[in-house]
Amino acid sequence: MRYSDDIIEEVRTRNDIVDVISGYVKLQRRGSSYFGLCPFHNEKSPSFSVSPGKQMYYCFGCGAGGNVYTFLMEYENYSFQEAVKALADRAGVRLPEIEYSREARALADRKALLLEINKQAARYFYAKLRAPEGAAAMKYLTGRGLDDDTIRKFGLGYSDRYNNDLYRYLKKQNYTDEVLKESGLFNIDEKRGIYDKFWNRVIFPIMDVNSRVIGFGGRVMGDGKPKYLNSPETKIFDKSRNLYGLHAARSSRRKNLIICEGYMDVISMHQAGFTNAVASLGTALTSQQAGLLKRYTDEVLIMYDSDDAGVRAALRAIPMLRAVGLATKVVSLKPHKDPDEFIRQEGKEAFEERLQKAENSFLFEIRILQAGYDMADPQGKSDFFHEVAARLLKFEDEIERNSYLETVARLYNVQADMLRKLVNRLALKGAGISGIIEPKKSRERKQEKEGGTEKAQKLMLTWMTSYPEILGGLEKYISPEDFTNPLYRQVAEMVEDQFRKGEVNPARIINHFEDSEQQKKVAALFHEQIALDTEAEKKKALLDVVCNMKESSIAGRLSGLDPTDLAGLQKLMEEKKKLEALRRNGLPEGVFQ
Ligand code: CTP
Ligand code: MN
Repeated sequence: MRYSDDIIEEVRTRNDIVDVISGYVKLQRRGSSYFGLCPFHNEKSPSFSVSPGKQMYYCFGCGAGGNVYTFLMEYENYSFQEAVKALADRAGVRLPEIEYSREARALADRKALLLEINKQAARYFYAKLRAPEGAAAMKYLTGRGLDDDTIRKFGLGYSDRYNNDLYRYLKKQNYTDEVLKESGLFNIDEKRGIYDKFWNRVIFPIMDVNSRVIGFGGRVMGDGKPKYLNSPETKIFDKSRNLYGLHAARSSRRKNLIICEGYMDVISMHQAGFTNAVASLGTALTSQQAGLLKRYTDEVLIMYDSDDAGVRAALRAIPMLRAVGLATKVVSLKPHKDPDEFIRQEGKEAFEERLQKAENSFLFEIRILQAGYDMADPQGKSDFFHEVAARLLKFEDEIERNSYLETVARLYNVQADMLRKLVNRLALKGAGISGIIEPKKSRERKQEKEGGTEKAQKLMLTWMTSYPEILGGLEKYISPEDFTNPLYRQVAEMVEDQFRKGEVNPARIINHFEDSEQQKKVAALFHEQIALDTEAEKKKALLDVVCNMKESSIAGRLSGLDPTDLAGLQKLMEEKKKLEALRRNGLPEGVFQ
C-alpha cells in the first residue's frame, strides 16, 4: 500500500526543502532560517519560515508546517503518494513498484480510468459546442453574456440531440459497458439498455482543485425541466468535498473567497474579474467544503440568492464556516436574484460596492432573527433581546462580546447596560441549570489548564527535537506515557526510538503520517518557540516544562486509576515524590551536554 520507509526517506533527503520551496515562494535568509510570504494565507510581512537544519517549514502566522512532502501535499493538493512520486522524479530517484494491495490497486486504476473517461467526454462536449450542431448552444451562452475566453476557461460544452452519441464515441475507444456505467454519464434502462444521460444541454464540466474533470452539470437551453442535470456521485465525484470554480479561484489575487449557489454565478463573476468565486455542487454547503475553503482563505463572503431559501442557506452556512475558523460576511444582492443577474443589470462597479458593504455575519443573523419577532409587542421585544443575549453569551472573548453587544444595542435601540445585565443574568442561570455550582471563572480556568497541558507537551517535543542531547538525561523523568494526547504520545515514542538509534530527525517522523492535516499538527509540535540564550535560562525553562507535564500526567493517571489498583497507586506516588525532588533540586548538571 505504500513505499518503504527507506525509500520515502531517501527521496526526502535528496530534495532539499529550501530548493523545493524556493520554486514556489521567494525566500530570504535570516539567521539560520529562510523567510518568505506564506503561500497558505494572505499576509504582508513574512512569517513563513523554512529551516534547512530541520528540513521543515513552518508559518508562525497560520500554523501551516511540515516537511517537503507536506508542502507539496498542501500546495499542489497531492496525496502523499503523489508527493513522493513528484519528488522522486525531481531528484531522479527510481521508485520501486509500490506494493499495493490488490483492492487498492484496483481502486486506483478504476479512478484513473473514470478520470480519463470524463476527460474524453469533456473534450467531446467542448468540440460539439463549436460544431455546426452546437450553434444554438453557443448562441445561448453568448446570449447570456459569456465571451469566448470565459467559455474556454470553464471548458463549457454541448451534448447534442441524440441520446447515444457519446456512448458510441466512447465505445469506439474500447471502454467496457461496465466502466461506462460507473462513470455516471449514462442511464441504464431495461428496455433501452445504456444511453446518454445528457442530451441537448449546455455542459458545465465540474473540476476538482487540480483541474481534473470529476463530473458534469447540464442545463436546458430555455425553460425546460429539470433546469439542471448533474452527474451522480461516483468513485471520483464527491459532491460534499469539492467546489465548483475552486481550480481557478485558488490562485485569485483577491483577499477572500466568495461562495455562491450556481455555476452561472461563478462564471459571470469570474468574467467580471471576481475570480475568487466558487459554488457548492447543487447541495447545501458541507463542513468538508468549509474545511476546503479554509485551506485557501481566511474570509468567506456568502452570496446566496436573494430569496428565502438563500437566507436559510446562509444561516446554515455561517456556523459551519465559523467552526473552521473562517471570518464570514454576507452580501446582499437585492433587488436582484443572484450574482449573475446583478452583474448583468448593474455592472461590476456596483457589484464591487456590494462586496464592500458586506454585512458582518453575526449582525446578519440578528437581523434575520428580529424579523421573527413582533417588536411592537413588549413580550415580543423582550423575547427577542433574550435570544440576542443568549447568542452574545456564546462569544468567549470578552472584548469581542462587548463590542458586539454595543453594536447590537445601538442598532436595535436598547441601552447597552440593559443588554449587559441580561447577558450576565443568563450566564448565572446557565450555571444553575447544569446543577453544578461552578462559577464561570473556574470553568474557564480548567479549560486554560487543559490547553496548558497540551502546550507543555508540545513544548517538550520541541525541546526533545531541538536539543536531542537532553534526551539521555530526560529519560529518568519523562517517558512517552506522560504525553496524554495520543498523537503527541505516538510522536514522542518515535523521537525516543530515533534517539536510541542514534539520530533524532523530526522531518523523518513526519513521513509516517500520510494525511497532510496530521503532518501539519505534527510539524507544529516541533515549532513551539523556545527563544532562550543562556544555559541557565534554558535549564530553568526546561525544568518548568518537565514539572508541568509530569504533574498533569500524574494527575490524569490518578483520576483514571481503578480504586483497587494498589500497585498502580504506589507507582504514581513514587513518581510524585520524584517530581517533588526534581522541583526542589532542579535538573542535574550538564543536561545540555
Ligand atoms: N441546481 C441543480 N438542479 C436543479 C436546479 C439547480 O443541481 N434542477 C443547482 C445547480 O448547481 C445550479 C444551482 O443549483 O447552478 C443554483 O440553481 P439556480 O439558482 O436555480 O440556477 P442558476 O445557477 O441561477 O442558473 P441559471 O442562471 O442558469 O438559471
Ligand atoms: Mn441565475
